[in-house]
Amino acid sequence: MVRLNTILLVFYLTFCHAANILYIIPFTAKSHYISMRTIGLELSRRGHNVTVITAYKENEHPPNYHQIKVQATSVWDSLGFERPNVFSMADLSDEVFHQNFLWPGGLAITEMALASPAVQELLRSDAKFDLVISEQFFQEAFYVLAHKYEAPLALVTSFGNCMKHNFFIRNPLQWSTVTYELLMLDNPKSFFGRLRNMYFSLYELFWWKYWYLSKQEELMRKYIPALPQPIPNLVDIQKNASLMLVNRHFSVDSSIAYLPNVVEIGGVHITKTNTTLPKDLQTILDEAKHGVVYVNFGSNVRSSELPDEKKQAFLNVFRRLRQTVIWKWEDDELKGKSDNVITRQWFPQKDILNHPNIKVFISHGGLIGTQEAIYGGVPIIGIPIYGDQLNNLFSIEELGIGRILRYHDINEENLFELLSEFVNTDAYKKKAEEVSRRYLDRPMSALDTAVFWLEYVIRNNGAPYMKSPALELNWWAYTMLDVYIFLAVTLTLTMFVIIKILIFVKMILMTQKSNIKSKKS
Ligand SMILES: *[C@@H]1O[C@H](CO)[C@@H](O)[C@H](O)[C@H]1NC(C)=O
Repeated sequence: MVRLNTILLVFYLTFCHAANILYIIPFTAKSHYISMRTIGLELSRRGHNVTVITAYKENEHPPNYHQIKVQATSVWDSLGFERPNVFSMADLSDEVFHQNFLWPGGLAITEMALASPAVQELLRSDAKFDLVISEQFFQEAFYVLAHKYEAPLALVTSFGNCMKHNFFIRNPLQWSTVTYELLMLDNPKSFFGRLRNMYFSLYELFWWKYWYLSKQEELMRKYIPALPQPIPNLVDIQKNASLMLVNRHFSVDSSIAYLPNVVEIGGVHITKTNTTLPKDLQTILDEAKHGVVYVNFGSNVRSSELPDEKKQAFLNVFRRLRQTVIWKWEDDELKGKSDNVITRQWFPQKDILNHPNIKVFISHGGLIGTQEAIYGGVPIIGIPIYGDQLNNLFSIEELGIGRILRYHDINEENLFELLSEFVNTDAYKKKAEEVSRRYLDRPMSALDTAVFWLEYVIRNNGAPYMKSPALELNWWAYTMLDVYIFLAVTLTLTMFVIIKILIFVKMILMTQKSNIKSKKS
């Protein structure tokens, strides 16, 4: 086996030259890092020299994987205010979420990352790169590094689709079926849903383009030295990105039309590992003869911050269950829990969700957990709080593998009723297993797909031919507006002429008639 690997590696290094790759994922939210870490690691495993700008450090990695660590202050510290109780964010409007969190947070984290000594050292060195990969998430100043190193740019999303990218690269927008990725929308396909989707997509686009990007450009000028002149603006850099990898998949998210340079890599963080569960957990899961309810609200939303009355509702319901409950609980102890409830501050989630005894996953609908549940064939009860969570959970409901429970509707009665459906019947579980099979039914794994297209871009010097020819047209030619106006005008003129002729003919006929009449009389 070792020999085969060595032979493959030699083959690889001979026929696909090892590239110098810069991978920029400095965002300090752990879920973002988890969703994207495998790409850099895999590229280095395949022989590329990978330099990663990151907030989290890997301990085990190939020697050609170099980590440039940013001074990871948390999102809240960078924003300069105390971490709020994340459950309170369930009430924020999408506008406020962008204005108060995403935009200022993005700017603060970009500045923190750019100013980090290790990053400055890299930027001032004479490093050269053949490809720049960056997360697509409110840190656009970094995109200019593609220009600095004269390398193609590839972007990766840690959530699903990217509406503004579609807009700039002239991918069809499909507003009637594709919702702006962070918009909480109750009925996306209704008239008001579609109106709101269009409104918010444009609202975000304009603020981003005319306000936010100018702030990013200030940061870019302040912190990135030796940029070749003239410096293109950040919209043009994003527009000219060679590749966009989006973390979604049509088998479970809805089907979308894409240009060839937008590629779905949904579930890219889920790799087959041989890790076994810790012994004690394995025993707990194996011995739970009525099954297990797994509760985890992710790395950012903390269950221990639940208000008392909601926490009590959970505890009361769990006390009434025969199932074992495994609950990620961030404080030392959980007062008043029944014996069937096991809490810890951290669980190996992916492996837990792969255990056959898991009946249901109570989650906030974050993308990573949702993908891991789909992968493991586990139904979800989702309590969305902010961001993309509601959209993820809509997909889950539509797939028939879970249900949404609104935060404000959490009480003992609702929770018990809903949970009973999941633990006492296996309809959801059966469906979840079916969906899991189709999620995995792909020509290549998500990670192989990502790596293939990244290497493709390197091999083909940025593959500019993958871009839409519509980029060369101005907007009215692209939207066919000139042709529609031409047709409308021609049609109107023709109608006008025809009507005029008809009136004229009618007049002649009438005069003839009256002439005949007058002759007869
Ligand atoms: C690989 O990347 C590191 C860190 O960016 C750099 O110091 C080194 O020179 C690179 N190696 C090669 C062979 O290009």
